[in-house]
Amino acid sequence: MLRLENVTKFYGDFKAVDGLSIELKKGNIYGFVGPNGAGKTTIFKMIATLLKPSGGKIFLNNQNIIKKYKYARGQIGYMPDFFGVYNDMKTYEYMEFYLDINYISQKDKKKKIDELLELVNMKDKKNKYVDSLSRGMKQKLCLARCLLKDPSVIILDEPASGMDPKSRIEMKKILKNLKHKDKVILISSHILHELSELCDEIIILDSGKVDYKGSLDDIVNEVCQTNILEIKLLDKTQEMIKVLKNYNGVVDVVNDIDSIKVNFTGDQLQISNLLRHLISSDFKIVSFSKMKNDLEDVFIKLTGGDNND
Ligand SMILES: Nc1ncnc2c1ncn2[C@@H]1O[C@H](COP(=O)(O)OP(=O)(O)OP(=O)(O)O)[C@@H](O)[C@H]1O
Ligand SMILES: [Mg+2]
Repeated sequence: MLRLENVTKFYGDFKAVDGLSIELKKGNIYGFVGPNGAGKTTIFKMIATLLKPSGGKIFLNNQNIIKKYKYARGQIGYMPDFFGVYNDMKTYEYMEFYLDINYISQKDKKKKIDELLELVNMKDKKNKYVDSLSRGMKQKLCLARCLLKDPSVIILDEPASGMDPKSRIEMKKILKNLKHKDKVILISSHILHELSELCDEIIILDSGKVDYKGSLDDIVNEVCQTNILEIKLLDKTQEMIKVLKNYNGVVDVVNDIDSIKVNFTGDQLQISNLLRHLISSDFKIVSFSKMKNDLEDVFIKLTGGDNND
């Protein structure tokens, strides 16, 4: 549906996006992750046709969006990371204004605005001046605004950064719903936990290049090649540590407060063999579990944890 071919962006001499080629399919949510300055906003602005690439091509439904920018703008809903609101407009008027400037059909205008304000839980703010809304409320209004034209591509640049936990949960529900309507959704965030819950694919960027792209499970398995095992046992902790340190594939053993943490390179079968070995050595094991690596671990491994929020 959306295809970037060797897309590059220079700001003066500085290369902010470096030969990016990716394909994004409808019905999927893509999470863009990367340290400050990785190029996420620049990529989003180019897809939204607000910034011209220095090189390469972007296709939406096989149409070159640089040539067919009017078509592209009709299809794309873009929620920027920073946006202004107008001083003397009420929430309802703001939505109405965006409908009008986008030449969206006047039919059922009121109904459409009401529906979207309801969707983001802002119906009771309909007659409030937008500049008096809190940051999170403005973000929700902006999300509603970007859905006005029922876009097939939804681009959200750090949409949840000012939202409270309840609004974040609501936003996740809204996005999951939209995904089922065959939209392609691009979302950037520094809240990695949130992305991992929501996204079908994660794209990790660094210095304008894709470091990794794939499902969360694939990325975690590829980047975090060792497993952390947590073992709780009744007694003989020191003896078990000795056995573990001599076991093939064990990289490190840490005696934690109430458990032993083992850094182990083996696959699922080798993990099960290790468990069998420990049980047959007569250790009284209370629990044995593989700790889940998550996007946070991947990010730290790839970037050294440079996620300046
Ligand atoms: N208008 C501009 N003029 C010059 N350089 C720019 C401009 N906009 C962005 N850059 C540079 O391009 C690089 C990518 O910036 P971009 O805003 O796309 O990063 P980002 O991944 O969105 O970062 P963040 O996580 O902080 O939002 C940065 O080094 C930034 O300084
Ligand atoms: Mg940005």
